Amino acid sequence: MIVREQQADDYEAIRHVYAEAFRRPRFRPPLEPGSVPFEVGLFEALWEAGDVIPEFSFTALADGVVGHVTASRASVATDPVVAVGPIGVLPDHQGTGIGSALMAALLAAADAADVPLIALPGAPQYYSRFGFRPAKELGVVPPEPEWGDAFQARPLTAYTESVAGRFQYAPAFSS
Ligand SMILES: CC(C)(COP(=O)(O)OP(=O)(O)OC[C@H]1O[C@@H](n2cnc3c(N)ncnc32)[C@H](O)[C@@H]1OP(=O)(O)O)[C@@H](O)C(=O)NCCC(=O)NCCS
Repeated sequence: MIVREQQADDYEAIRHVYAEAFRRPRFRPPLEPGSVPFEVGLFEALWEAGDVIPEFSFTALADGVVGHVTASRASVATDPVVAVGPIGVLPDHQGTGIGSALMAALLAAADAADVPLIALPGAPQYYSRFGFRPAKELGVVPPEPEWGDAFQARPLTAYTESVAGRFQYAPAFSS
């Protein structure tokens, strides 16, 4: 398995990964047959708006595209930061370390580029292993207050306590 930066012609394969991965998401009930997972539309909207950050978004290859993590532009108050998500792995390949490898690649690239912080909503029991913790512990206010501790942030080397305030996603997240 190889993890490499996302390329423009990965688009259709990435859509397929999210469609399959989120048909039976790990942390919520399975979808009705025939419906398209929300995450496919989110990925499309971010891509079309130019808010996906290609140098922090990674594709996993193993006899074709089997996983992907999306990084997008975001801010905390006036500081530029990075939002993570969706992340998905084809069902037959889950539980073999691909999701972890994708997250490690994103973390390393963002850290090397002096991004202060990355954030996502998700299950703390999965994401805490990558150093995420409730964003509000860092003074980062979730975009939706009811997300509570599920909105998590991962401070990187360039983080300072001045990175605080309301987290704002790219517009695609609210459309
Ligand atoms: C979540 C997801 C991206 C993780 O990728 P992955 O390649 O399966 O995860 P990894 O193999 O790197 O990590 C495995 C660990 O994650 C957990 N895990 C993640 N997905 C799991 C799954 N489908 N079944 C069981 N455990 C899973 C396990 O606890 C496992 O822990 P361990 O290392 O202690 O055994 C992937 O399973 C996926 O696409 N799931 C469906 C979509 C989804 O729920 N995305 C995340 C939304 S918050």
